Amino acid sequence: MSIVQPAPWPAEALWQQIEPLLPGFSVEILASIDSTSSELMRRARAGQTAPTLLVAERQTAGRGRLGRQWHSAASVYEGTGMVPALTFSLGLPLSPRDWSGLSLAVGVAVAESLQPAVPAAGTDAPRIGLKWPNDLWLGEGRKLGGILVETATFTHAPQANAQARYVVVGIGLNVLPVRIEGVSPPPACLREVDSALTAPRALGQLGLPLVQTLLGFAEHGFAAFQARFGLRDVLAGHPVQLSTGRQGVAHGVDEEGALLVLTDAGMQRITSASISVRPQGMALPESPSAAPRRTPTR
Ligand code: BTN
Repeated sequence: MSIVQPAPWPAEALWQQIEPLLPGFSVEILASIDSTSSELMRRARAGQTAPTLLVAERQTAGRGRLGRQWHSAASVYEGTGMVPALTFSLGLPLSPRDWSGLSLAVGVAVAESLQPAVPAAGTDAPRIGLKWPNDLWLGEGRKLGGILVETATFTHAPQANAQARYVVVGIGLNVLPVRIEGVSPPPACLREVDSALTAPRALGQLGLPLVQTLLGFAEHGFAAFQARFGLRDVLAGHPVQLSTGRQGVAHGVDEEGALLVLTDAGMQRITSASISVRPQGMALPESPSAAPRRTPTR
């Protein structure tokens, strides 16, 4: 077990909960790194494939989906000792029969562990919603966080099971409010859901459910999470615009996690990770957590 700088992070408690499920598991908390996901991918390519939870209080080159940057609000809180966002990656060997829908299942785990019950419609409580395929929203259109799933093959230690890959699940969640000039409304943060939440507390709440979800996904696939995703699906019933130019109305996701969109050409199954989907008619501010990246990803 390796624990670097444990307090105030619940590294010991998480290790106690998770190690029985993932033998050889370790927790590392870093003050700063380029990207927790990049680091675990580098390690995996170098043959280090033990289950690892890598948390960074600050990332200097955080990455999002589709080559976007994951920005840190650390500068706003510099010198306060407060950690404005929870940014971490969990890497582990996994061999599901089908990888489809993994980022959606992770979204379900994160949303449910931070907000166990979906607030009833018409109440003031903001609902943590899931936007296909990898975003967490608060209410309509304010990004709370994002999920980045990447995999590496075992090059140094070939596994008996050809399906096994090292998966790196990177999660970024805004915890404290960030106000940015010219951006209105501001990005969402976990403090709006629970005023007592801090980045370490949020990690303590979601670490074990995340691991259980990954193991459950490997066993049963996305079908086991489909209905729960549906309860928080922010696109369902909304007109959407696909990056391919097509328009339609979102009709939920199927048992493989594909987004169903009813278009003029009939029901389309959207599976491609390279397609982005924007709801029409919702005010969507440009989130500082997902701005376009200048350099291409690998
Ligand atoms: C997205 O919104 O497209 C996904 C954002 C994922 C950000 C997290 S922060 C921790 C991990 N390290 C990264 O570089 N990215 C992920």
